[in-house]
Amino acid sequence: MDTTTASAKSQQYQLLLQQVRQFAAQPVDLVSLLANTAALLHHSFGFWWTGFYRVAGDELVLSAFQGPVACTNIPYGKGVCGAAWKERRTIVVPDVEQFPGHIACSSQSRSEIVVPIFSNTNALTQSSTSAITQLHDNAIPQALTQSHNNAITQSLWAVLDIDSEHLSTFDDTDRLYLEQLATILSDAHASLSSPIRDIYLAGGCFWGTQHYLSLLRGVLHAEAGYANGNIPNPTYEQVYTDTTGFAETVHVRYDASQISLSRLLEMFFKTIDPTSLNRQAHDIGTRYRTGIYFTDPDDLPVIRHSLKKLANNYSDPLVVEVIPLTAFYLAEEYHQDYLQKHPDGYCHIPLDLMSEARNFNPPNEN
Ligand code: SME
Repeated sequence: MDTTTASAKSQQYQLLLQQVRQFAAQPVDLVSLLANTAALLHHSFGFWWTGFYRVAGDELVLSAFQGPVACTNIPYGKGVCGAAWKERRTIVVPDVEQFPGHIACSSQSRSEIVVPIFSNTNALTQSSTSAITQLHDNAIPQALTQSHNNAITQSLWAVLDIDSEHLSTFDDTDRLYLEQLATILSDAHASLSSPIRDIYLAGGCFWGTQHYLSLLRGVLHAEAGYANGNIPNPTYEQVYTDTTGFAETVHVRYDASQISLSRLLEMFFKTIDPTSLNRQAHDIGTRYRTGIYFTDPDDLPVIRHSLKKLANNYSDPLVVEVIPLTAFYLAEEYHQDYLQKHPDGYCHIPLDLMSEARNFNPPNEN
C-alpha cells in the first residue's frame, strides 16, 4: 500500500475511533455498542463481514455483526477466532486458504483479521503482544512469548473478526487501530459490568418515595424528578397541570452487589397500590401514576418477573407502567430530601414502612 492510501486509511480509522468513543461515553447497552461499532466499521471500509464473537465458557458465540449469516459457535483454539483467543493476540491472515483450521463461514471471504478484546484497561498493553502471523512460520517471536506470559492474568471477553473479499486486505495499520478500538470497548465493558446501576421509580408523590428509597441499604442515592413527559426542562408548576405527560419519579442509583433489582422492587411495591390508576392515597393525576422506567433492557425480565409475583397478591389487575426511560429532569432543589427538610411534611407512606426501610438489611445478593 502506498503512503497516501495508508494515511487515508489512518484518517478513516481516527474518525471512526472518535465516533466509537462517543458511543461508549453514553450509558449504552453493551450489545448496542458492539452493534453500532460493527456497523461503523463495516460501512466505513466496505468489508465483507464485520462482527464480534463473545466468550461463553469454552467457546465463542456469535454476537453483533454486519454481513452475511455466520457460524454461531467457535471452540477455543479453533479457526482464526479461536486461535486469537488462545494465543491472546491479533492474527492477520492475508489468505484464509493458507491458514490451517480456518473456519469458512462464507466462500467469499479471502483475508481476515481477528483482534482479541480483554476485560480490563491493562489491555492497553496488548498492542505490544501483537504480531502479524507469518504464514509458513510457526515460530512465535520471543517478544511475543514474553508479552503473552505477562498478559496471562487478563481475561478475554470477546474477539473482533473482520473478513474481506480480497486477499491481503489487512496490515499493521488495521491492527494498530483495531487494537485501539478494542481498548475502548474493554473500558466500556468494564464500566458496564460495574455493580452500580440505575432505575427510575414512580410511586405517587415523590417526597415520600425518595425518602423511603434513600433509606434502603445498597441505595447510593435517590433523587426526585420528572420522568417521561414531553417538554424540556419542566417546572413543578408545569408538571402539576397534568398536561406535560411527566410522572413524579425517583432516580435510584444502587449497588447491585448489596441490593438486587428484584429486592429493591419488592421494597418499592410496599409503598404503592399497584392497582390504582393515576392515584396514590390523596394524590390524584397522571403525574402520580406508578411506573418503573428502565435504561437497561436486561432489567426488563427482572421487572416483569417481580410484577408477576406481585400480581398474586391482588385480585384487580396491576396498572404499574413499565417502559424505557425516555426523559428525566431533576425536580427543583426544594423538592429534594423534602421530608428531611420538613419532618412533619405530608407523606403517603406510613411511618412504620419508613422504619422498615431504615432497618432493612438485605442478605448478600451475590
Ligand atoms: N473465519 C472465522 C470464523 C468466523 S467467520 O469469518 C464470520 C474463523 O476462522 O475463526
